[in-house]
Amino acid sequence: MIWVVATRNQGKTSEIRSLLNNFPIEIKNLNDFGKIPEVEETGNTFEENAYLKASFTSRILGIPALADDSGLVVDVLNGAPGIHSARYGGPDTTDMQNYMKLLEAMKDQPNRHARFECVISIAIPQGQALTYEGRCEGIISEKPMGIHGFGYDPVFFYPPLNKTFAELTLEEKNQVSHRALALKQIQQECDKILI
Ligand code: IMP
Repeated sequence: MIWVVATRNQGKTSEIRSLLNNFPIEIKNLNDFGKIPEVEETGNTFEENAYLKASFTSRILGIPALADDSGLVVDVLNGAPGIHSARYGGPDTTDMQNYMKLLEAMKDQPNRHARFECVISIAIPQGQALTYEGRCEGIISEKPMGIHGFGYDPVFFYPPLNKTFAELTLEEKNQVSHRALALKQIQQECDKILI
């Protein structure tokens, strides 16, 4: 069975593939299907956007699709960057431009509490979908540290391991991340989902 992950992000695809490697499915992403229309993320929540992406991709390609919508939620910034995490610095910004903007917004800010949130929607072409959620609490660091991962990983300090997410190996991040927690629930419900 083939599932498509509704993303062109290789970092995200690798994490999902490695976490679902005990499933009898082949995981592809949008890069494997050439040009298909982009879905507009018009929802106001991670959940709405995950469902929009999963159901659209599944209907267009005619196979089950898994979409994650995720982002960084910073308490003192009233939840920003939130659903706008990928484009926090403006359209076409790099990960580094996004996290440098965040560090600037957090300058001299004593409350640095933040969390990554992830909602995963699994949809089939007929329209039904299942939804899973994961959260991971941490602290926005004063400066970027580490070279692994993607997005805001270099500035997301994870107290239980005393490192930023970018200082963790993929295997370490996959034990604790918001996406891993959502995917672990999917692993546990494997039988139900495949039916
Ligand atoms: P999405 O592709 O619309 O879900 O955008 C999610 C954005 O949130 C990414 O582009 C990153 O900026 C950020 N993000 C989500 N998950 C992670 C993570 O595990 N590490 C670092 N940044 C993340």
